[in-house]
Amino acid sequence: MHEPMQGLPARRYLIPFDTRELPLRYADVLVLGSGVAGLSAALAAAGAGASVLVVTKGEAKESNTLYAQGGIAAVLDPDGSEDSHEAHARDTKVAGAGLCDDEVVELVVREGTEAVRKLIAEGARFDRTPEGQIALTKEGGHSAKRILHATGDATGAEIERTLLERARAQSRIRFLEHAFAIDLVTSHGECQGALVWDHAQGLQFVAARATVLAAGGAGRIYRETTNPPVATGDGIAMAYRAGAVLRDMEFMQFHPTTLYVAGASRKLLTEALRGEGAYLVDADGIRFMPEVHELAELAPRDVVARAIVRRLRETGGRGVFLDLRHLDAERLVQRFPGIEKICRSYGLDFTRQLVPVRPSAHYTMGGVAVDLDARTGVERLFAVGEVSCSGLHGANRLGSNSLLEGLVFGERAGRKAAELAADSLGDVARLPMETSEVRLDRRREIDIVDVLNALRAQTWRSLAIERDGASMREARERIAFWSSYALEEVFAGPLGWELQNMLTVAALVAQAAIWREESRGAHFREDFPDPDDARFLRHSAIVRPEEGKEA
Ligand code: FUM
Repeated sequence: MHEPMQGLPARRYLIPFDTRELPLRYADVLVLGSGVAGLSAALAAAGAGASVLVVTKGEAKESNTLYAQGGIAAVLDPDGSEDSHEAHARDTKVAGAGLCDDEVVELVVREGTEAVRKLIAEGARFDRTPEGQIALTKEGGHSAKRILHATGDATGAEIERTLLERARAQSRIRFLEHAFAIDLVTSHGECQGALVWDHAQGLQFVAARATVLAAGGAGRIYRETTNPPVATGDGIAMAYRAGAVLRDMEFMQFHPTTLYVAGASRKLLTEALRGEGAYLVDADGIRFMPEVHELAELAPRDVVARAIVRRLRETGGRGVFLDLRHLDAERLVQRFPGIEKICRSYGLDFTRQLVPVRPSAHYTMGGVAVDLDARTGVERLFAVGEVSCSGLHGANRLGSNSLLEGLVFGERAGRKAAELAADSLGDVARLPMETSEVRLDRRREIDIVDVLNALRAQTWRSLAIERDGASMREARERIAFWSSYALEEVFAGPLGWELQNMLTVAALVAQAAIWREESRGAHFREDFPDPDDARFLRHSAIVRPEEGKEA
């Protein structure tokens, strides 16, 4: 958009450093993050001969991928009569509400078929029919059964297991786990690697000829989210500080059905439950989706999420529930073992009782703008998966498309990163020469958790499922106020850096959402309830203002 922006964070680095003084690690290709996209990139780069270091904030397996339940969408038999690449592309674009990039959509659905076949050949165990065929199911917005799943509702975990086993067995890939990537280091417009911190060695500089950002999304900026604690938007914030263009930050997908019992930390209840026939009912047991949309419970996620919020309001907040009682109990337990276990652990028998649900922030559709090879606007920096905005999802992601995107773009980025590294083998001498002079500025005590709680409550109030200009402007002001001291601080550990990243990402979401004066896809504004193609059939884009200058 490059519209007037107010109060966006301008600081380049979070901490002071001099790369010449820091312990140095080196890799041809540095991968930040270890979900499906990061591991695919690492494997592709290593397969092309590059040395790879994968840096992960927690254990390598801990990412949004691990928690993906429903599945991965792919057309396994494009020449068959049941489904086609064209149909998958069409469904993706309908969901994306005019903002998908046609070329990217075509590429992902076509290359996705091969990528999923390869994953199966490499040992991914997807569920099969009694006849031995891959079992396929349907989710909201899909016109055919094309969702592969594993162990019923643990698809992400199976994909993560498959990729991680391969990556661990590849001698060119090393892992640095429980290590926090604080900032990308750039010099003369090129990414030279990252500043990384871990308990054992403190601050280090990882120099790399190419860096692949695969650090996931930012669901944790919201109070209600399906995302694990690691999803604090670090990659988005880092890329922003490094000068990358961020696209479509206003588009956050809210999943309609997370378990809403106190203490259950918003566990995802997969859309596949509705794909298998579950109803949504209100506190009086009335099914309300058929009157809202012709696809009823399988309407697009934004439609279902908004319908739930409205029904809750109309019924005095007495609850909305998933009703599975009319479905075959034995089959349900066999098809959704993980969800059965989750419900049982809170004393609920999902075959016989109503399950309370609410929407929660689920998937960050905006992110670092990339081209078809996952290149960002910063030289030597690639971005893949949820941290990126490739143009696949547009204004609303079609369920189960993101694991597919991670496989396809991860592979492409890994190959290109390895090529770039090989082409610049003589460049080592000019790598590590950056400094930042952020002053240690300890003028105040900051209760980090308190700011985080305030931030997450505010985003949920103002930047969630139903938005309006006044409330979003209030959010922007408050975020700017908290940032005025929290972003000026130099923190000594991950909790503080995460707070700074979350404040940064929340400011970007607010900025983009205020700019988009229309409703489209997952971005719904009560003050502009309709799409406005004439003004807004285009992407928003934000870049960091120069330090010391008002944006
Ligand atoms: O409902 C689900 O299982 C979510 C799938 C997805 O977000 O892709």
